[in-house]
Amino acid sequence: MTTTTTTRTGLALSDVVLTFGDGDTQVNALDHVDLTVTPGEIVAVVGPSGAGKSSLLAVAGGLTTPTSGSVVVGGADLTSMSKAALARYRRDHVGFVFQSGNLVPALTAIDQLRLVEKITGRRAATPPQKLLESVGMAEHAKRRPGRLSGGERQRVGIARALVASPSVLLVDEPTAALDRRRSHEIVELLARQTHEFGVATVMVTHDHDVLEHCDRVLEMVDGRLRAV
Ligand SMILES: Nc1ncnc2c1ncn2[C@@H]1O[C@H](COP(=O)(O)OP(=O)(O)OP(=O)(O)O)[C@@H](O)[C@H]1O
Ligand SMILES: [Mg+2]
Repeated sequence: MTTTTTTRTGLALSDVVLTFGDGDTQVNALDHVDLTVTPGEIVAVVGPSGAGKSSLLAVAGGLTTPTSGSVVVGGADLTSMSKAALARYRRDHVGFVFQSGNLVPALTAIDQLRLVEKITGRRAATPPQKLLESVGMAEHAKRRPGRLSGGERQRVGIARALVASPSVLLVDEPTAALDRRRSHEIVELLARQTHEFGVATVMVTHDHDVLEHCDRVLEMVDGRLRAV
């Protein structure tokens, strides 16, 4: 395994359209979306159910190829990449954090992070133990998810998303399963890690309570993105 440093350049979506279905049932999940997120910036996206928020993350993370428009990370346009190149892009440049942490039940907290090192074949620029420390989970490093609270699992999920030194961090409803105090803690932590590691972070949330921790808030309605 080798240690590599990535040049972080942020994320730029230009005129992105994502259409599902055809004819009468056609939906523009994303309707001419422009979004630039700079390294070290955390942008919150709010909006009603079905507005296109998860679609936005899927396109930014190279999970879904848009119908038209461009998605540029590190000078490369995802929309012109092959499937294999997209898989490499996700592995090397994107961290995902989901609602429930999405941890592997059989692995201890520290092994969740080491697994990413194994998969990528590269040592984390910040060692796993240090990453766990940075999210306040150092003393629970040997615990499996079954013995962690929802907030603690979410912290491990965030640490794991940072192992590969991603340029882009995509976070979908990170506080949906948490109480008010833990929600604040988690989003504060996300903002701190975003600034410290120079990641371009997009966080989708229904939780208006936690927006104060974000650098910018955008609203998505019917596939269109606008400033709040
Ligand atoms: N695979 C798909 N096939 C067809 N339509 C889809 C698909 N995925 C999403 N859609 C449609 O695209 C629109 C946007 O969906 P999306 O999941 O992005 O919304 P969302 O804002 O994340 O909603 P929620 O807040 O409920 O999670 C919706 O109208 C949805 O029905
Ligand atoms: Mg969604």
